[in-house]
Amino acid sequence: MQLLEFDTIIIGSGLAGLTAAYHAAQFGTVAVVTKSELDTSNSYYAQGGIAAAIGEDDSPQLHLADTLEAGRGLCDRDAVEVLVTEGRERVLELIDMGMPFDRVEGKIVPGLEGGHHKRRILHAGGDATGKMLTCFMLQKVREQKNITAFEYTAAVRLIENRGCILGVQAIDFVSGENIVFRSKAVILATGGLSRIFSRSTNPHTATGDGIAMAYQIGAKLADMEFVQFHPSALSLPGEEAFLISEAVRGEGAWLLTPSGERFMPQLHPLAELAPRDVVAYSIFKQMQQSGHDFVYLSLRHLDPTHIAERFHNIYFRLKEYGIDLTCDLVPVAPAAHYMVGGIRTDLNAETNIRGLFVCGEAASTGVMGANRLASNSLLECLVFGKRASEQAARLTSFDGPLPELETVTVSAENEQLYLQYKNEMAELLSEKLGIVRNQNGMQESVQRFNEIAAQFGDAAHEYNLLKIKNTVDICRLIAHSALIREESRGGHIREDFPEENPQFRVHIIQQKDHEPTFEPVNA
Ligand code: FAD
Ligand code: SIN
Repeated sequence: MQLLEFDTIIIGSGLAGLTAAYHAAQFGTVAVVTKSELDTSNSYYAQGGIAAAIGEDDSPQLHLADTLEAGRGLCDRDAVEVLVTEGRERVLELIDMGMPFDRVEGKIVPGLEGGHHKRRILHAGGDATGKMLTCFMLQKVREQKNITAFEYTAAVRLIENRGCILGVQAIDFVSGENIVFRSKAVILATGGLSRIFSRSTNPHTATGDGIAMAYQIGAKLADMEFVQFHPSALSLPGEEAFLISEAVRGEGAWLLTPSGERFMPQLHPLAELAPRDVVAYSIFKQMQQSGHDFVYLSLRHLDPTHIAERFHNIYFRLKEYGIDLTCDLVPVAPAAHYMVGGIRTDLNAETNIRGLFVCGEAASTGVMGANRLASNSLLECLVFGKRASEQAARLTSFDGPLPELETVTVSAENEQLYLQYKNEMAELLSEKLGIVRNQNGMQESVQRFNEIAAQFGDAAHEYNLLKIKNTVDICRLIAHSALIREESRGGHIREDFPEENPQFRVHIIQQKDHEPTFEPVNA
């Protein structure tokens, strides 16, 4: 195995990883390890924008209030304070650095999304914010001489000794070689896991690898039951669940039943711009009632020139399906979109494992609560990516010996097996752990997950088998937490416990070889 040494190792090249790399470079050498191309990430596909209280009529305190309201009592207030105050600073820095946010007559005019009471969503390239932002940060990262990027290189195992991190084992898909990246600090920025559901807005890379690897070495996980479903992803038979941004509703789009009636104004004072959990659940119920697997999004009453220009990415993508965003009804349905829970971190992005830091969607910093406020996640990447690299730089070296490591290979034969199990787990997750859950369904899924885990639990040296094991670990972690939370709150909705229960105003913590525990919310 090849052995490489860096001051900081960053796994993942979405906005969290790129931000962490950019800041870490001022303290020493940095490796960015990413399993596909540098620009393959959820971040790249972000549409709506990034939330920041930059308007004259806005303030971090108002942003905080909206975030707490959407989070339904599960946000840690200190973490949200950091998010909204430092987030504003990070976004203003980006503007100073030259990030081309969209302007009207020279002035940035933020948009509106669900759950926000002010227009505070900065966007770029119309609805191509993620692409513009990641390309901008990629350029900044490329300019730093002490950052080395490793594309097509997947982290497969975190290396730990007595509760301290020693590095990461990875496999280079091009050469087939294993590489050990040795460092005192590893920053996981591996993103979310929503792609393991059968209907998801996420790219193929979002499979929760970082969460599974961290769990394996004893990192604490929090709030794994909270998977956020985006209300409006395209719903056409056999097609990908392409996201139709919430910003479209921010510009005034309506949701209609298949028979053409608007239904959100009767259900919430913010109508189509209610928090995401409310809109996704309302659509789910409409679909149940009508027996159709979609509702319609209608923009017919809006200025077509403005819509085609503001959302040109969505406009052209829909054209490929023969749908005109400005005048046709667009069939949409919810899809798994964002992992709210994840690896538990403190305010400096540090985990309970010394030297292991996490930022971005893989982390559970406490800012998202039971339901993420739209466009807060890109902001979280900026704020906690910087904090992670600064805290990592303060760490002193730990010189424990490397344990013996088994080489991981890739066998084409096992790829079919992976696809077979992946599809089965995706169906089970979507059916039994989707928008609405109940005890019987979840227990049935756990039974099957346990059988799969028994079969692949020891997989250690073949990449596809390891992927089955990681996926089933994640499925079980989601299901266990969801079974424990006997209430409905935010994105976790249970038919058998339809009300919020104040006793569950706690984070559910899971750790390997420990019973789950409850951690109080920092309110
Ligand atoms: P990602 O951007 O997903 O990056 C993870 C990286 O880790 C990837 O490069 C991946 O390849 C790599 N990786 C994963 N596993 C491994 C491994 N084992 N080894 C090596 N590398 C690995 N949020 C907003 O705030 N505003 C929006 O407008 C918005 N729109 C969205 C639209 C879409 C379609 C989607 C899917 C999400 C959207 N979100 C939005 C959510 C937001 O994009 C993500 O939460 C955020 O970008 C996550 O950033 P990240 O850096 O943590 O993870
Ligand atoms: C969107 O554009 O609707 C996505 C925003 C988000 O996920 O925060």
